[in-house]
Amino acid sequence: MQISQAAVEQAIKRVTEMSGTAMNAQSENTNTPILEITNLSKHFGGVIALSQIDMYVPQGQIASLIGPNGAGKTTLFNCITGLERPTAGAVQLQTRSITGLRPDQITSIGMARTFQNIRLFSQLTVLDNIKIGRHCRSKSHFWAAIRRNHKQRQEEAEITEYALEALKFVGLERYSDQIAGNLSYGDGRRIEIARALATEPTLLLLDEPAAGMNPLETQHLMDLIYAIRQQGITVLLIEHDMKVVMRISDWVTVLDHGEKISHGKPEAVQNDARVIKAYLGKSYNA
Ligand SMILES: Nc1ncnc2c1ncn2[C@@H]1O[C@H](COP(=O)(O)OP(=O)(O)O)[C@@H](O)[C@H]1O
Ligand SMILES: [Mg+2]
Repeated sequence: MQISQAAVEQAIKRVTEMSGTAMNAQSENTNTPILEITNLSKHFGGVIALSQIDMYVPQGQIASLIGPNGAGKTTLFNCITGLERPTAGAVQLQTRSITGLRPDQITSIGMARTFQNIRLFSQLTVLDNIKIGRHCRSKSHFWAAIRRNHKQRQEEAEITEYALEALKFVGLERYSDQIAGNLSYGDGRRIEIARALATEPTLLLLDEPAAGMNPLETQHLMDLIYAIRQQGITVLLIEHDMKVVMRISDWVTVLDHGEKISHGKPEAVQNDARVIKAYLGKSYNA
């Protein structure tokens, strides 16, 4: 007898209600995908950076994208966030096609990201860096805020308040007036996360968030990522620190030479012969 997906979902829902526990964050089938990538390829001249990638990220979970240096991870992030146009294929965010949209359009639909290399305005204060993120949700432009009318001033106050909230969330409120360039590397990475959060994303993409962090900073980062998921924000991260990946991820997808070679729960991926082979004798760094 065939049991339909809907019937299975119903049964899980009933059992969950009976036991009074929350849905297990790892039950992928019970979650609708927030991000869906279909048959995505990206070529740079003769270089095939990505080849026919199918991938989806379930809502409300932490997914990791791993793979050896040059596997295509950052290129995939760039195609998802609109920085690069895929050669072929489609990207959907909450069932809406975002293929070919500009990064700012994609941000306003609910996706935010951080970069592999920190991209803060080093001469501006920490708070102003975060306010820049928040301005994507407001009508007036940050740089044109010299002659403001009442409504704009009100909006500016709201932006400041929201930026401070984001800063508080990452635990760096005390640095709000500091010049961003004076922060430690680890703190700079957290500020970038705060800036991304200030755009009110439903999906947050982090490109190597633990890079350059010491073990304590890395631990705090993991706590922060859990807290972000706790807020209902889905997280997709690229990470080369396998300890972080194995501990934090609900799901792991592995790329090698532009191809998806594995997908599954961390333990399964870790023991996948194709994954082990891909990593043998190669740099873990992206
Ligand atoms: N703008 C570009 N022009 C040409 N080749 C690129 C460009 N961006 C990435 N590549 C190539 O695509 C491949 C994947 O790169 P990348 O996505 O940065 O890998 P990863 O982030 O997994 O280390 C590499 O061979 C890289 O040299
Ligand atoms: Mg990269």
